[in-house]
Amino acid sequence: MATLSLPDAPVERWLEAARERRSRRSFDGTKVSTEHASALGEACALMRPSPSARAVFETDVSEDIFKGIVGSYGKVTGASSALLFVASADSSQALAAVGYTGEALILEATALGLGTCWVGGMFDGKLARKTAGLVNGEKVFAVSPVGQPLQKVSTTERIVYGMRKPKPRKPSEQIAPDLNAPGWPTWARPGVESARIAPSAHNRQPWRFRVEGGAVVVSFDGPDTPIVSKRLDCGIAMLHFELAVRAAGASGSWELLEHRSDVARFTLG
Ligand SMILES: Cc1cc2nc3c(=O)[nH]c(=O)nc-3n(C[C@H](O)[C@H](O)[C@H](O)COP(=O)(O)O)c2cc1C
Repeated sequence: MATLSLPDAPVERWLEAARERRSRRSFDGTKVSTEHASALGEACALMRPSPSARAVFETDVSEDIFKGIVGSYGKVTGASSALLFVASADSSQALAAVGYTGEALILEATALGLGTCWVGGMFDGKLARKTAGLVNGEKVFAVSPVGQPLQKVSTTERIVYGMRKPKPRKPSEQIAPDLNAPGWPTWARPGVESARIAPSAHNRQPWRFRVEGGAVVVSFDGPDTPIVSKRLDCGIAMLHFELAVRAAGASGSWELLEHRSDVARFTLG
């Protein structure tokens, strides 16, 4: 049975970062400091909750890595460092693990004052493979620029991504339809609130939460999608969920699931 749970993690620091984080795509061209680079390198080494997923931090990455195949969507400028999110290519469970692992690094970078943006489809796969130094059976599922975001929101960010306002999120009752029913455990409520603000490809927020025998199951809505799997988005939301549950004084772990749209089950203990 494949499981996921947080290693010794700076829970409050990452929760605060989760509230502040927003995708940034325009950077000021400066290099990430040696201090921040080594902090991110160490965090990549520590955040290994699954043997099938890992994150790699690289300074001096060519900006071409962020160039997508379809024009300016997802265009990233001025970043010379990157996080690369790697997992076993042939396992659907690894997709949730890569989202969960990767979001921890995104939050650590945010806590360090750096800008990030998950980029799932629009990156140069060949360059990413070379940069990540893949071993047998691995694939790069997503990358993120890392750097000093422009102080001022750029015109592109404002017009294309509506950066003046936070991207809207679905109400809790939509992602956890039975949230107000008597069976919902109190400990899981802050988890749903924190999962709600997680980032997802196209801001689609596919995660859905239900209670089953005292455990919380996360699944995705509708059919899965080929380029960026909804399982990866759900992995990101799972990290947010667990951080808030831990901050409220409870702890547990995820059992990864593969049946239909079920992604994982969180049990206390
Ligand atoms: C798995 C994943 C893949 C993403 N891929 C892209 C991408 O290819 N290009 C892009 O510009 N943004 C991408 N995003 C960023 C989302 O559009 C963004 O997270 C979402 O709109 C919510 O906005 P926020 O991150 O500012 O809260 C991706 C996000 C996730 C989680």
